[in-house]
Amino acid sequence: MTQLADLPTLSRLIREVGLSNFIQGLADTIHADFLRWPQFQKQPRVVNHSPGGVIELMPTSDGRRYAFKYVNGHPGNPAHGLSTVVAFGVLADVETGYPLLLSEMTLATALRTAAVSLLAARALARPGARRMALIGNGAQAEFQALAFHWHLGIDEIALYDVDAQATQRLMRNLAPYPSLRLRPCESTAQAVRGADIVTTITADKRRATILTPEMIEPGMHLNAVGGDCPGKTELHADILRQARVVVEFEPQTRVEGEIQQMPVDSPVTELWRILAGDGPGREHAQQLTVFDSVGFALEDFSTLCYVHQQLQRHGLGRELALVPSLQDPKDLFSLTNPGQAQERAAPYTGATHDAPAHHDDAIVLDAAPGDRDHRARRQSAARTLC
Ligand SMILES: NC(=O)c1ccc[n+]([C@@H]2O[C@H](COP(=O)([O-])OP(=O)(O)OC[C@H]3O[C@@H](n4cnc5c(N)ncnc54)[C@H](O)[C@@H]3O)[C@@H](O)[C@H]2O)c1
Repeated sequence: MTQLADLPTLSRLIREVGLSNFIQGLADTIHADFLRWPQFQKQPRVVNHSPGGVIELMPTSDGRRYAFKYVNGHPGNPAHGLSTVVAFGVLADVETGYPLLLSEMTLATALRTAAVSLLAARALARPGARRMALIGNGAQAEFQALAFHWHLGIDEIALYDVDAQATQRLMRNLAPYPSLRLRPCESTAQAVRGADIVTTITADKRRATILTPEMIEPGMHLNAVGGDCPGKTELHADILRQARVVVEFEPQTRVEGEIQQMPVDSPVTELWRILAGDGPGREHAQQLTVFDSVGFALEDFSTLCYVHQQLQRHGLGRELALVPSLQDPKDLFSLTNPGQAQERAAPYTGATHDAPAHHDDAIVLDAAPGDRDHRARRQSAARTLC
């Protein structure tokens, strides 16, 4: 059975789990999966470039579950009232190839990116880091801010965006969290001064130099998230030359990350090695560290597993007639006959056709008496998942 987690479902799930717990749960799941890194089939994502953006497919598998994410990056979209990044993903069973979950991943990507930034910062930022600069105050920004506040102890964030309205929106959204002091700034240089951590999360499809060497202070940790495509960077190359650089999956980051500006043999460390204790994190207080984040498929695999598990736990989501459920699996043709198809595909068509139009209703698991066995089976399946 394929479960559907659409946007209203995921929003509701996040409310029920709690945003802070959700980020921590994702970080824990990603961390655990990074520790079994060698078990995963890995490849750089499959990309389709166009003048205004990129569309990417991100597949991976641990031999038991398979996942892929569809995601775009179109920095010009907000000028047309559209998001820069939108995404959805699928989790499937490797043994049968059947999809288990079709999920929205726009929100989920923002959450998992914040969770991965957190894992890297825990390993690389100076202990006791309190001040962060957040350059780029768009769709991803609140998630980064809250992840670092709740789970790393950041209590002051200096903000800068070329779009002052974006900074104002972020400050409005974070006003309910007064323990996090926010300081809007006039420039990147002003925001960065005195920061323990600098997060760059801007969107511009070009070789930008958001951070230049004279802005950098000894001991800073740079969480460079927005440079994630060939020809799309945020850091001046001289910063990379003096820093300890940590990446997710080197073959992908060589092409897409900040290190696309560096020789192909420039030293880097993959984050999973540090998490697995197979290499040091920060080596000394004065060291400049960079997490050259581009986003890797394994993080989305973990996210889909976490979402699937939490849906079961909270009784949310609904079943989707995405693939056939046939009494005779060779009789696909029966689906072209409406009368027969309804009879033979009953477990799927019922769930889909009965779906109420109202969102809040649509996201509640259908608990009709005939579905009880079904629900028990799904809950038992969830216990064995991931
Ligand atoms: N590494 C990852 O895993 C990962 C995941 C998600 C998104 N991203 C990337 O993060 C970036 C931000 O994504 P988003 O969804 O928040 O996009 P967004 O368009 O909503 O926000 C980007 C913000 O950057 C600002 N900006 C652009 N140029 C700037 C500059 N020179 N100085 C300061 N601010 C500037 C824009 O005004 C905008 O407010 C994108 O580049 C996206 O591709 C990376």
